[in-house]
Amino acid sequence: MGDWRDVAAVDDLGDGAAVTVFVEGEPVMLVRVGERVFALDALCTHEDLDLASGCLAGDGAWECAHHGGRFDLESGRATGMPAVAPLRTWAVRVEGDRVQVRED
Ligand code: FES
Repeated sequence: MGDWRDVAAVDDLGDGAAVTVFVEGEPVMLVRVGERVFALDALCTHEDLDLASGCLAGDGAWECAHHGGRFDLESGRATGMPAVAPLRTWAVRVEGDRVQVRED
């Protein structure tokens, strides 16, 4: 497990929206849902395209804007075709008004 990395202010994250941050050069997508923040790899496992342009799909899933693949925000599991392989998830914590992530 690596060190915690400060990546964003909580206020930078709109409810239900995603932003991409970089952790040691790796793109990580942050998604805020109410009081919770999820962090997953920012490239879809279907065709390596950006996921942050997608949207919440209900039942805790994120839908890729490119071909509609879905992923569970908590586990990274692929829950909708054409996505099959899971996304790597990152551990997240909120310290004051800052969001921090580290390798899970
Ligand atoms: S790139 Fe995400 S579903 Fe195809």
